[in-house]
Amino acid sequence: MIVGFLAGCGGADDPAPTAAPLTVVADDRSDVPIAGLPAEWRDRFLLGDALFDQTNGEAGGLGPLFIRSSCGACHALDSRGPGFVEKFPATTGVELPYGVTRRPFATAGAKTPIETPPGVAATVRLPPPVFGRGYVEAIEESEILRVEAEQAARTDGIRGRAHRLTYASELSADPLFSTLTKGASAIGRFGLKARVPTLDDFAADAYQGDMGLTSPLRPTELPNPDGLTDDDKPGVDLSLETISEVAAYMRLLAIPKRPAPDARGAALFAQADCAVCHVPTLRTRADWPVPAQAGIDAPVYTDLLLHDMGDGLADGVTDLAAGPRDWKTPPLMGLRLQRALLHDGRAKTVEDAIAAHDSEGSEARGSAQKFRALSGDDRAALLTFVSSL
Ligand code: HEC
Ligand code: HEC
Repeated sequence: MIVGFLAGCGGADDPAPTAAPLTVVADDRSDVPIAGLPAEWRDRFLLGDALFDQTNGEAGGLGPLFIRSSCGACHALDSRGPGFVEKFPATTGVELPYGVTRRPFATAGAKTPIETPPGVAATVRLPPPVFGRGYVEAIEESEILRVEAEQAARTDGIRGRAHRLTYASELSADPLFSTLTKGASAIGRFGLKARVPTLDDFAADAYQGDMGLTSPLRPTELPNPDGLTDDDKPGVDLSLETISEVAAYMRLLAIPKRPAPDARGAALFAQADCAVCHVPTLRTRADWPVPAQAGIDAPVYTDLLLHDMGDGLADGVTDLAAGPRDWKTPPLMGLRLQRALLHDGRAKTVEDAIAAHDSEGSEARGSAQKFRALSGDDRAALLTFVSSL
């Protein structure tokens, strides 16, 4: 079933819809499933929701090291924070034998957390929201490559790259959605630098990296200073079903409801080249198993490509083939539910976020400058439009 378009559903004052209609997929808040789910999907959503917010303890395999003990601790209401992650940028002369991520809590026999080494300034990564991610996962791979090719033909410096990588988990959790196994080539879609291709893979990666909970997808504990290879729960901690249900939950989360699209704001968004990277809609797979997400123009406002965002946004950290200045265009969804924007939350307003696009070497420099050159009225209309997404 294709979910309804907003056009015509709003009040009498609603402006006319634009060429790229915004799909109404939720109530005006997060933590809601997409409308009209069959009962079986609805049950999976509820089970996954409970697992997502469940606080995990030592008996369940928490540790040896962890950052937070539930997904919800960092993605409250499926959104951004309050928990977060810190990374260590490459610093000359500093070795990082236990990786680039701070893991501040030790339990289950561990004594030594992974702390920021002396002489290193850790950088913050705020969690992106997880709502609407089923639409992102459903997008045709050929769409991502089409947009990549279109950008490669541009002459203004915008030239995003798909993050080509090899699948890092042993297997996928739910064969309905993905059958990738370790070493297969894939294109990354999730994570701030698009280092993960599927929601199964992300759930398993987050359990392992953020909580020390192993699963059939990620069966080993990460290296830690005490050299521990297990915790209080012997062997693999989680079942395949847990990964599968948590991934299903994220897949079935709606995009927070958007007001009627404002034609003028949308036109200005395109005029300032925002829409080159924040592509309003991308086509999803016709054979996607969730009918509401299959074969539609998903209103994601991203190209899922990596862009060189210049020195100003660089974090000194490399994720696979994504360098320190590279970031994936974030989907613009539910922005009004967020109090902090950009990968580290440094921007408090959309205008601040746009200003940060304009730094030495940034592909988005010209776009940010086009925004600045607009009249005050037009700038306000564009900001209102973006804040409504
Ligand atoms: C300690 C905080 C923390 C915890 C706990 C956590 N996350 Fe995250 N999450 C983050 C951060 C930070 C990112 C961005 C990571 C990056 O790109 O390096 C992220 C990114 C994601 C993304 C990618 C979204 C996108 O569109 O790019 C998904 C999906 C996700 N998390 C799901 C989960 C799930 C499922 C769990 C529980 C198993 C979880 N997270 C637990 C902090 C957390
Ligand atoms: C070259 C591609 C590109 C262009 C052009 C571009 N952006 Fe972005 N945008 C990005 C990337 C990449 C990020 C993430 C940067 C980061 O987190 O450090 C981003 C982040 C954002 C954010 C913060 C989103 C969040 O969830 O934190 C907003 C808002 C935004 N852009 C709006 C705009 C607007 C408005 C324009 C046009 C004036 C624009 N962008 C032009 C690539 C682009």
